[in-house]
Amino acid sequence: MTGRVMTQRLTDRTRRVAESLTLAVTARALELKRQGIDVISFGAGEPDFPTPPHVIEAVTAFLAKGQVKYTAASGTPELKNAILQRAATDDGLSQYEPGNVLVSCGGKHSLYLALQALCEAGDEVLILAPYWVSYPDMAQLADAKPVIVETSPSDGFRPDLERLEAAITERTRVLILNSPGNPTGAVYDRTTLEGIARLAEQHDLIVFSDEIYAKLVYGDAQHTCFPTLPGMQERTLLFEGVSKAYSMTGWRIGWTLGPKPIIQAMAKIQGQMTSNPATPSQVAAVAALNGSQDVVEDMRTEFDARRQIIVDGLRSLPGVSCPEPQGAFYVLPDVSKLYGKTLGGHAVTDSLTFSAACLESANVALVAGIAFGDDRCVRLSYANSREQIQEGLARLKKLIEG
Ligand SMILES: Cc1ncc(COP(=O)(O)O)c(C=O)c1O
Repeated sequence: MTGRVMTQRLTDRTRRVAESLTLAVTARALELKRQGIDVISFGAGEPDFPTPPHVIEAVTAFLAKGQVKYTAASGTPELKNAILQRAATDDGLSQYEPGNVLVSCGGKHSLYLALQALCEAGDEVLILAPYWVSYPDMAQLADAKPVIVETSPSDGFRPDLERLEAAITERTRVLILNSPGNPTGAVYDRTTLEGIARLAEQHDLIVFSDEIYAKLVYGDAQHTCFPTLPGMQERTLLFEGVSKAYSMTGWRIGWTLGPKPIIQAMAKIQGQMTSNPATPSQVAAVAALNGSQDVVEDMRTEFDARRQIIVDGLRSLPGVSCPEPQGAFYVLPDVSKLYGKTLGGHAVTDSLTFSAACLESANVALVAGIAFGDDRCVRLSYANSREQIQEGLARLKKLIEG
């Protein structure tokens, strides 16, 4: 078959979906590295720490038995219990039962399944910008319409409730929240979340609370787990996973806690799609959740130190303004004052050309803000060593100062 015939056979669905720009930047940075170029990567949303040693030990002992079989499609009872225990201990969520949990192949898979379970064609999904790259595309894959509501750095990227309410229509089904947020690092205060909860109740919305960065909060900021707010447990799907909290991205374990009928519907789709998440990975997740949580705090403390280095460094660059993130491991500086300049021989007109100049001329990989719905900004992940961060900042300084 020719390429043309093959393309004609692709569905509309594939055309609606964009390639993940964050993955594209990582791929280009890897290509340069393979050519022997020393690239500083602020691109990937992936902690740089190794998997905790006690997790490796538990999985090694499991593998030594040689019995790696299917499990229940929705996850093992051991893992569901470990998830319920942590939800009760860490967030005071003690009413959930095993039937309220679905374990999937990463938080991304969980979110995908939830949208598939809840959206009909033409339904609307409210997404706050700047947003995590995958939300709009996942909504489109469910034939739903992503409706973007802007937030601003001057409000700490918290949603303006009037603007949010104005975006609600008869077709709005789902509101996606992500606090602590990627790419903003914003942590919503309790009062803001209570306001959102009132809107959800008034307009009968289902809230997706993506709390995958819940353990990474800094300074005075306090994380509020959305389903702990009065009346919210019955209309919230809570998404978490081991990727960010335990630096276990490659194990691909995420989960959803929510009302049983929705969890059952998602489990039905998963059963026909992937069956259970990889069995050794479920063993690994049990070890992470049941083991000492000191590893989480150690990583958080290190991220906090890096956060301060990167924010100070970016603020010292001419033409760059950088809000202070309170959570996750990203900064989202506004670089739009540099648009119109030539940096390292590259004409910079927007976030894509700015990030191209950084990669090609300074060998610094970062992600264009347009991927997150804000073309004034670029995202840097500080899941990188302090030395690499310092070096990357020095290169950016040289690039910008000429
Ligand atoms: C906001 C947010 N949600 C969910 C995920 C999914 O993570 P995973 O699929 O590794 O659990 C990510 C990963 O980058 C993320 O940034």
